Amino acid sequence: MKKILRGTFIALIIALVVMQFIQPDRTNPEYDSSQDFLTVNAVDSEIGHFIKAACYDCHSNETKWPWYSKIAPMSYAVAHNVEEGREHLNFSEWGTYSEGKADHKLEECIEEIKEGEMPLWGYTALHAEADLTDEQLEQLVNFFDGLR
Ligand code: HEC
Repeated sequence: MKKILRGTFIALIIALVVMQFIQPDRTNPEYDSSQDFLTVNAVDSEIGHFIKAACYDCHSNETKWPWYSKIAPMSYAVAHNVEEGREHLNFSEWGTYSEGKADHKLEECIEEIKEGEMPLWGYTALHAEADLTDEQLEQLVNFFDGLR
């Protein structure tokens, strides 16, 4: 039994080491800052800091890749979240959205925040600056609503 356990443990370590060599794509695509959500909407208030701190790592091309994004298997999860996040909503490309699409995204931002879905739960546990208070979240909702 001890031998089997040790064998399993060694196999697991080897698997984790091998996984380190398979690094997911952690790039930030180039972007035109004149198309950025905060620029387009001329946001220069505290709200801009909230959005950058709580949403931009997954919903923009300005991702600050955290240390754990370099370690498998977290690296896969983080890269996946960023890829999915950008696909659904990319604040760096806001200026390229049609009026209808932008309005729909604002509506979804409001919904996601109200439902407590965004910012993503696991993320706020690791990023204190993204762990906004209820009051700050309400400010965000009102801000997004004001742009519609
Ligand atoms: C850790 C990464 C992460 C953070 C931080 C994050 N999101 Fe997301 N977001 C995602 C992922 C992944 C999806 C797509 C899957 C899903 O809906 O859960 C998503 C989906 C969304 C959607 C749905 C878009 C659609 O087309 O359905 C909206 C709106 C959204 N996020 C808004 C926000 C806002 C606003 C913030 C900041 C307050 C935020 N998110 C923070 C990862 C993140």
